[in-house]
Amino acid sequence: MPSDLRYLLQTRDGTDCLRIVYYKETDSTNTEALKLARRGYPHGTLIVADRQLRGRGRRGRHWFSPEGKNIYMSLIFRELERLPCPELITLYSSVCVIEALLSNVKSAAAHIWSKWPNDIYWDDKKLGGILTEGGGLKKERFFVIGIGLNVNSTKEELSKNTDHSGTSLLSETDRTLRRDRLILDIASGILGKSELLGSPLSLKKRWTELSRTPGATVKVIGERESFRAVALGIDERGHLIVRTEEDGKLKTLCAEEVVHLR
Ligand code: BTN
Repeated sequence: MPSDLRYLLQTRDGTDCLRIVYYKETDSTNTEALKLARRGYPHGTLIVADRQLRGRGRRGRHWFSPEGKNIYMSLIFRELERLPCPELITLYSSVCVIEALLSNVKSAAAHIWSKWPNDIYWDDKKLGGILTEGGGLKKERFFVIGIGLNVNSTKEELSKNTDHSGTSLLSETDRTLRRDRLILDIASGILGKSELLGSPLSLKKRWTELSRTPGATVKVIGERESFRAVALGIDERGHLIVRTEEDGKLKTLCAEEVVHLR
């Protein structure tokens, strides 16, 4: 195991409920987590890889996942009775990722924010994303929360391998960072923030504090149409309410793509 992942082997206070499955390389930690969850692996199983061969993002996009650099992790979450509104799981996870970043990266507070619904940004560049799967079918009473974060990739490799709008903690801070502490803080945050998880109102408030989407002018890209709008905020199910520029009508977005214009 690479030296900056070694703490994953040690148990720490507050993370005892974590059961860690580590792969030097795998197609996708989400694919592994879905397999293991279907085999009955418990709540709190964390799958981590040093490299992904077929990392996946939303809408079938490829997720750049080189060896030894970044975070690729998926958490099995089974305690659905703790979620008054399961649809909030992605926004909840993004709050936990940002809080872990705020406590591990000194200068993060002025730069990091959550773009609705599943992106983590550093100023105007994408630092990471969340892909939540499972949970929908009656038989599958679990979620897999997949998190990708660019930690130690260089600017050059990101501009060669992503659509140029990506960044990493190394590019922004000029420091390399151990991945294990961040991974453990994110996972224990997701498993542990019961008050936030149980209260859609508190979650809405915290997410709004950590996001720059409410108030932004955005381009909404849906399956059938795209239009400009002003984002007003989220409702208690985590859906985004926007006012269209064309006719001022309110629309509620569930899973559309939103591009910030200013
Ligand atoms: C997105 O921004 O579209 C979501 C990206 C999610 C990437 C992570 S990396 C770990 C996990 N395994 C995957 O194949 N995808 C998620």
